[in-house]
Amino acid sequence: MPKASYHFPAGFLWGTATAAHQVEGSNTLNNWSVWENEPGRILHGHRAGLACNWWGGRWREDLDRAVETHQNAHRFSVEWSRIQPRPDGWDEDALEHYRQMLRGMLERKLTPMVTLHHFTDPLWLAERGGWENDETPALFETFVRKVVAALKEYTSLWITINEPNVYMLCGYVEGVFPPGKKDFNSAYRVMRNLVRGHAAAYHAIHQLQPKARVGATVNYQSILPARPWLPIDRWLARFARQSMFYAFPNALVDGRLQLLSHREVIPAAAKTYDFFGLNYYTRTLIRFKIPFRNNEFYRLSFPKGAEISENHHMANVPEGFFEALRWAKSYGKPIIVTENGIEDQGDKLRPGYLFEHIHQVWRAVNFNWPIQGYFHWSLVDNFEWERGWTQRFGLWGLDVDTQVRIRRPSVDAYASICEENGITSEMVEAYAPHVFQRLFPS
Ligand code: BGC
Repeated sequence: MPKASYHFPAGFLWGTATAAHQVEGSNTLNNWSVWENEPGRILHGHRAGLACNWWGGRWREDLDRAVETHQNAHRFSVEWSRIQPRPDGWDEDALEHYRQMLRGMLERKLTPMVTLHHFTDPLWLAERGGWENDETPALFETFVRKVVAALKEYTSLWITINEPNVYMLCGYVEGVFPPGKKDFNSAYRVMRNLVRGHAAAYHAIHQLQPKARVGATVNYQSILPARPWLPIDRWLARFARQSMFYAFPNALVDGRLQLLSHREVIPAAAKTYDFFGLNYYTRTLIRFKIPFRNNEFYRLSFPKGAEISENHHMANVPEGFFEALRWAKSYGKPIIVTENGIEDQGDKLRPGYLFEHIHQVWRAVNFNWPIQGYFHWSLVDNFEWERGWTQRFGLWGLDVDTQVRIRRPSVDAYASICEENGITSEMVEAYAPHVFQRLFPS
């Protein structure tokens, strides 16, 4: 057996990522708490419920798990609706909760990364039209100022908005997130306000904390033409990438927002990212189909031969990750992988997925691409939005009824990578022998 290894630069961040609504539980103040109670919104009528009970304090034991398994960083989000439950009122106890969490991370020597908006909105904001309302960016800035003033003592790594592209698509095109709209004009309004909100937050954070490093995260899927020889499939793939992935980050480069037929310059957005937060999960193929009976003119599928996740939600395509990293690099700033993972309750694919995807990061690092960290989604199974509890992304499993954590084999696989700051042939042999030849060809 050849002995070989792939190592990462010193100081590389190894962590997991979570989001407030998905792990905290017991929230009645945001738009998702209402949405979950409407019939038919969430698969099987699931609800976040207690989630991982982080609001009740279980973040402590989960962060112990993270640090005991050699992670050195953690990405989490603060919940706007808890901190500002009313438009004219702050909840100082909620802020203190997050201060405690941050202290808890520092005590454990975990570098914290704080996301300021991860899909949920306070009910009062949603009632005013949420991000469709042109006043929301200014309201977001006020919230961000409050949070940063309260937490800056403990962290300087900020993500303004998580996946604006997914927020827009799911809430305003596909209608599977609140407010459940399918309206391109609303979608555009939302995107332009997310860009404005991000820009306002970026400038506010730097004013309050000059040494801060601020970015957003973008979800990138490797969308390729199903029939590369067919111009219409190629065009569709380009169109999907432009509208889904490029619009938001391009606007942060020079302030120019272009989405479908809309074009607009938002000067305050120019040069508003210090690093690129990249979320990558899968590759999909797109093909044109003649709209027949309904208006759908395309079909999505996964590449032939790729391993498919339990609920057919994603395909295991590590090369797509390399493509995503190359794309992120074109933005000319340091890159942090802010999410990457797979839904896999049985933990059959995850160990291999971990090694092969982290190997792609290593390839990119070795071209000297400025990648500074990798955050796996996620630490413990958590509430998967409109898919409820049907999809399990945790290194640790969660028994939702008893709150018992279940140690999956991937915990040890990832722990070995974090501890080694790299991948060795022994690890792959031990945890994912079926990918050995792909990583260490003989
Ligand atoms: C989101 C997470 C979500 C994950 C897995 C990402 O798009 O940021 O909130 O849990 O995907 O579905």
